[in-house]
Amino acid sequence: MGDGLKGLPPIASDPHDSSFSHVTGRSEYVDDRPLLKRELICGLVYSPYARANLKSTDFTQALQVPGVVEVVTAKDVVTNTWGTIFQDQPVLASTEVHYAGEVIAVLGAETPEALRMGLAQVKVEWEKLPAILSVDEAVSKKSFIGEERSIARGDVVEALKNSPKRLSGCLKIQGADHFYLESQAAVVYPKEEGQLEVHSSTQHPTETQHVVAKACGVPFKDVVCIAKRLGGGFGGKESQAAPIAAFAALMAKKTGRPARLALSKDDDMVITGKRNPFQISYDVGFNSEGKILAFDAKLFSDGGAYADLSTSIMERAMLHSDNAYFIPHMRVCGQVCRTNYHPHTAFRGFGGPKGVALIESVLEDVARETGKDALDIRKLNCYKPGEDITHYGQKVENNLLPGLFEKLETDSEYRSRREEINSWNQKAIETGGNPRGLSLTAVKFGISFTTRFLNQGNALVIIHTDGSVQVSTGAVEMGQGVNSRIASIVAEEFGLPLSSIRMMPTSTEKNANTSPTAASSGTDINGAAAQKACLEIKKRLAALALKLKDTSKELWPSKTAGLGTAPEIELGKEIETSLTQVAFENCQVMLRDKSFQLKFSDLVREAYLNRISLSEYGHYRIPDLGFDKLKGKGRAFLYYTQGVAASEVELDRDTGEVKVRRVDILMDLGRPINYGLDVGQVTGGFIQGMGWVTTENLVYNQDGFLLSHSPSTYKIPSIQDTPRIFNANLVHNEGNTVNVKSTKAVGEPPLLLCLSVWTAIRDAVMSYQGNKVIPMAIPATSERILRALTPEEFLET
Ligand code: MTE
Ligand code: HPA
Repeated sequence: MGDGLKGLPPIASDPHDSSFSHVTGRSEYVDDRPLLKRELICGLVYSPYARANLKSTDFTQALQVPGVVEVVTAKDVVTNTWGTIFQDQPVLASTEVHYAGEVIAVLGAETPEALRMGLAQVKVEWEKLPAILSVDEAVSKKSFIGEERSIARGDVVEALKNSPKRLSGCLKIQGADHFYLESQAAVVYPKEEGQLEVHSSTQHPTETQHVVAKACGVPFKDVVCIAKRLGGGFGGKESQAAPIAAFAALMAKKTGRPARLALSKDDDMVITGKRNPFQISYDVGFNSEGKILAFDAKLFSDGGAYADLSTSIMERAMLHSDNAYFIPHMRVCGQVCRTNYHPHTAFRGFGGPKGVALIESVLEDVARETGKDALDIRKLNCYKPGEDITHYGQKVENNLLPGLFEKLETDSEYRSRREEINSWNQKAIETGGNPRGLSLTAVKFGISFTTRFLNQGNALVIIHTDGSVQVSTGAVEMGQGVNSRIASIVAEEFGLPLSSIRMMPTSTEKNANTSPTAASSGTDINGAAAQKACLEIKKRLAALALKLKDTSKELWPSKTAGLGTAPEIELGKEIETSLTQVAFENCQVMLRDKSFQLKFSDLVREAYLNRISLSEYGHYRIPDLGFDKLKGKGRAFLYYTQGVAASEVELDRDTGEVKVRRVDILMDLGRPINYGLDVGQVTGGFIQGMGWVTTENLVYNQDGFLLSHSPSTYKIPSIQDTPRIFNANLVHNEGNTVNVKSTKAVGEPPLLLCLSVWTAIRDAVMSYQGNKVIPMAIPATSERILRALTPEEFLET
């Protein structure tokens, strides 16, 4: 299986549903909402220290600034704790702060100028306290969040002992900022009887609704949270949008005036958590062929000051430490550390990229130790028939990995380029030139939330009497195209053009108890729910069409309903089987035997006049999940999205700068719903990941305050960093029938392929250094690369 994979030729795709409004600047984001009369603009007072006592606060002078209206503090918060997994975080800190950026007060003013002047007049007396600012310190002080967890198979201690070859090491992985273009933002309108209408840039409207309601002391029914679209979320707005909305809501509640909070980029970067940094130690046993026999890894992550999603992120890291490779004896332990940094949070890939970085880097080292090419080591260890059960006991079904490796090896001309690079590097060593590196890595990303109850979605589908359709789901559009994909599913079900479908803003009023748009599952769960709703409506319409066929036109509802001259058409049990006889195509509804057809919009009108419901609410739950978190065993995922990438880099011998010369990506996305959007996600995710593994460096001062909090000090990839040659292709796979439309989720998995750039950098460094194993932290910044290439030129490491 997996051999002889065929490429999927590019398929003409419908545009993103916001493409026109995006490029013409008409797309509306939260802070684009027009200012209302009496609306207040909010700003935040936060700690400059990682840990401190709040000795006193004085807002008197701030409140005397003309235009400054109100201040909100912890005293105004009804329930002052929140948290996605553990409720351990205050909405507003009151006596002690636990990270630089922790918010203690919200100031409301009538103009931005008044707000700025008011914030400058706030007097706070801090007493600095000792803080934990590294994983090592947290470990030595046993400052942890949650328990240590372990997922294991076989007897790793014995298998390591018996392995002919062993390697051990340590890997340091830094965090990264989400760098969404739209900062965290919320606008809250107070309504009658204490109700609050919250417009939030959130990936999780339901959680935002709940956090706002609890902070303001109102029942959930009195808060509606609306998310029309996000200017990027990338995981950073999965949990951390909620307190931002709560700040604005508390101001709106206290003043009875609309309140707006839109963070500046600097405030956003200082306050919000990042991708969790990880520190990993490992021990691997293998034979002279490079076959991995045993693997033991201990993962520590920096959770920051509060739990947020860190324990779940750690779980995903542990579940992805095998990546594409079968390891007979494996143990992975994970512990989240509590430090005094901003609470770290979800970021595209969740824990996956950290687990995958670990094993991909270990495979590079095994290649060095055995004198073999790293691609051969990967192919040898890759999941294949007979070796296709993960360390947590799930079978890797519909496994395309072996074929993906083979195909990309050929498509990327891996072997001939490897030869060229070897001779190039030989010369570089002799002449002091720039070394090059090449590496081909894989991804096998598990699709489903690992917390079972989150794997549900709901959708409301409404057909109007002109035949146009509104669809509301729990999915949040943040650029990834979930709305376009769901619109395509609905359009296809009804046989309508995309222009007949309108995706509505996500709102807790229509779709309640939703999961975050996260874990790449937006289309899977919400699209499937929308499809279910469509099917129910179609059954009724099809049954009506069958009845109309046998009813004289004079007696159709459009002729008689207003007059009451003919009996209503009653639908009965035939609803259940009607769809087998009726098709919806090209805006027509037709009997499959071609004996009768009418326009979709005409049938819809007949249905309305006949008092048949044209709306439906669909609920979908992912079937067959069974992962036992306590045992660390079971079916954690519905399926895996898989892919491979080969990256070639050149390192500047004098500056350490990385140039990515060529990248070839091959992904299995099942049957894409929208080819263009999927390829966009593949390239975008890859480049975003490239930033994390190369230039994005978070620098903090000794007080744990983030210094690199703007684009001038935090370097995300620019157009100049795009690989000079960049091929992204999909393979043909009709086999993922477990998921809606046999598609596969795409949002996060391609990001993990960026690790091929990092391993290619390591490849270049190691070949420059006589093929010795040389560790390299993430990100491989220019400075780190330079130190690794020419350690003798540095006084200290
Ligand atoms: N693409 C864009 N343009 N903007 C984003 O914020 N978020 C990513 C990914 N792609 C994101 C994106 C993340 S973190 C996830 S989990 C998925 O989109 C979520 O959307 P989906 O489930 O609809 O794929
Ligand atoms: N990504 C992956 N898994 C998850 C996420 C996410 O953002 N959120 C919860 N589980």
